[in-house]
Amino acid sequence: MSGFDNQLQEQETRHGLCPPSHAIRAVSLLHEFNPLETQHMLLKDNVAIITGGAGVNGLGFATARLMAAQGAKVAILDLERADPAGAAAQLGAGHIGLVADVTDKASCDAAVAAVLKAFGRIDTLVNNAGITQPVKTLEITGSDYDRILDVSLRGTLYMSQAVLPAMQAQQSGSIVCISSVSAQRGGGILGGPHYSAAKAGVLGLARAMAREFGPENIRVNCITPGLIGTDIIKGKLTDEKKAEIAETIPLARLGRADDIAGACVFLASPLSTYCTGITLDVNGGMLIH
Ligand SMILES: NC(=O)c1ccc[n+]([C@@H]2O[C@H](COP(=O)([O-])OP(=O)(O)OC[C@H]3O[C@@H](n4cnc5c(N)ncnc54)[C@H](O)[C@@H]3O)[C@@H](O)[C@H]2O)c1
Repeated sequence: MSGFDNQLQEQETRHGLCPPSHAIRAVSLLHEFNPLETQHMLLKDNVAIITGGAGVNGLGFATARLMAAQGAKVAILDLERADPAGAAAQLGAGHIGLVADVTDKASCDAAVAAVLKAFGRIDTLVNNAGITQPVKTLEITGSDYDRILDVSLRGTLYMSQAVLPAMQAQQSGSIVCISSVSAQRGGGILGGPHYSAAKAGVLGLARAMAREFGPENIRVNCITPGLIGTDIIKGKLTDEKKAEIAETIPLARLGRADDIAGACVFLASPLSTYCTGITLDVNGGMLIH
């Protein structure tokens, strides 16, 4: 039995999940959704994968929590040290957490195979895993460049490649890629130029995939968050600096992880069926263009 099988079996036992043979029936919400039926959960019976979703203060976990509340079965993928199974357990029964490194193609493929085995389909992928580094252009080493680009950009490619065959077979799917305002304004607040480049690369990759897979009813969109109070900025900004930044933002505050979660649910849901290749700014007005 593989490591992934073991991870799944352990979680299935713990949460009383159905065995794979009872995997979720294929349902195309795109055809059944009636936005006027308010009791209808937006992601009922959807299966969503969220990379980098194990940090409970992060954008990914907030997205996992909101997607689960909207009826999705969620698979949280993250590095071992982030404890994705523990994070999934906090969502309640019926969700799974898998150890996966998005920079490693075999790891992405194995995790997606495990999700398909557990749930039988994949409706949404949120490419959320990302790391940053606050350095200036002349300080960026080759290994810094590789590290930062590998997680955001290579990871987005590998994970998208891993889920696309299942989405093609279903003729439906939504891929949401977390870029950054840093890609648009040439630096956010904390990330170095290589981080801006990685996140700008994500925009280009997502738009090209949107064009390629649109005819198969697979939508690919980006979110460009502004400055959001998560662990990625923890200890890097004083309260005074945060207040100073908030004064420059039209909505007069830093973002919250739930602000991004709402945008992810929108892009995963049938509310956005005619959106592909878009960049959804969620920045409180920090960048208006
Ligand atoms: N917080 C912000 O202000 C902000 C702004 C714009 C964009 N973003 C982007 O949002 C995303 C989420 O960031 P966050 O603020 O929640 O930070 P976070 O540090 O809480 O989340 C990042 C997650 O990615 C995981 N991760 C790192 N390397 C990985 C790998 N190789 N494989 C799998 N998972 C890996 C980490 O373990 C962590 O759980 C990132 O892509 C980040 O660049 C954040």
